[in-house]
Amino acid sequence: LRASSPELARRLRGLALVRGGFVSEGEAAELLREVEPGLRRGRYQSDHWDRAITGYRETERGLRGGPGRALLLRVTPAFPPRRPPRPSAHVLDLLPGGRVGPHVDSVKFCGCTIAGVSLLSPSVLRLRSLQDPQDWLELLLEPGSLYVLRGAARYEFTHEILPDEESFFGELRVPRGRRVALIFRNDPLGENP
Ligand code: OGA
Ligand code: MN
Repeated sequence: LRASSPELARRLRGLALVRGGFVSEGEAAELLREVEPGLRRGRYQSDHWDRAITGYRETERGLRGGPGRALLLRVTPAFPPRRPPRPSAHVLDLLPGGRVGPHVDSVKFCGCTIAGVSLLSPSVLRLRSLQDPQDWLELLLEPGSLYVLRGAARYEFTHEILPDEESFFGELRVPRGRRVALIFRNDPLGENP
């Protein structure tokens, strides 16, 4: 984790976090086997209406059984008890040249917590304050890691996955290969919470 200032790191402590080695290599292989068929039904695309995203394909995968279900159960404690993740994962497959541009997930479709498991390639997730773009936080996402964004980190900062040519974690070059992420979200509070 790298931050523009110690104050910012403190402010986002517990709100933006990364845990390396959340899934083992064996588990990662099983998860990929589970999601690849769904991904292969889609084509790689170069644009998206909501996020500045390129070089990607995606699918939604129900997690009622198998390794995905086991992962869902292990990710659930990252969510508030009364706001659990939806029983499906957003599976995002990014090409080595793909990126997810800075955005805030739609508050219409996504609740207070976002949790993502990264597979295959390392990448850098950058948060930037909407209020003061000088404030940023970077998370190094190793394959098999879990990241969680909640509260201010989810609502008051954009997040992005850096493209290969900008993929550095400080001095450390983080070469991008194909990356598959399983992203878990909860529902927003409705009209009648
Ligand atoms: C998204 C997103 C991040 C990731 O699809 O909204 O922010 O980990 N993805 O791929
Ligand atoms: Mn997002």
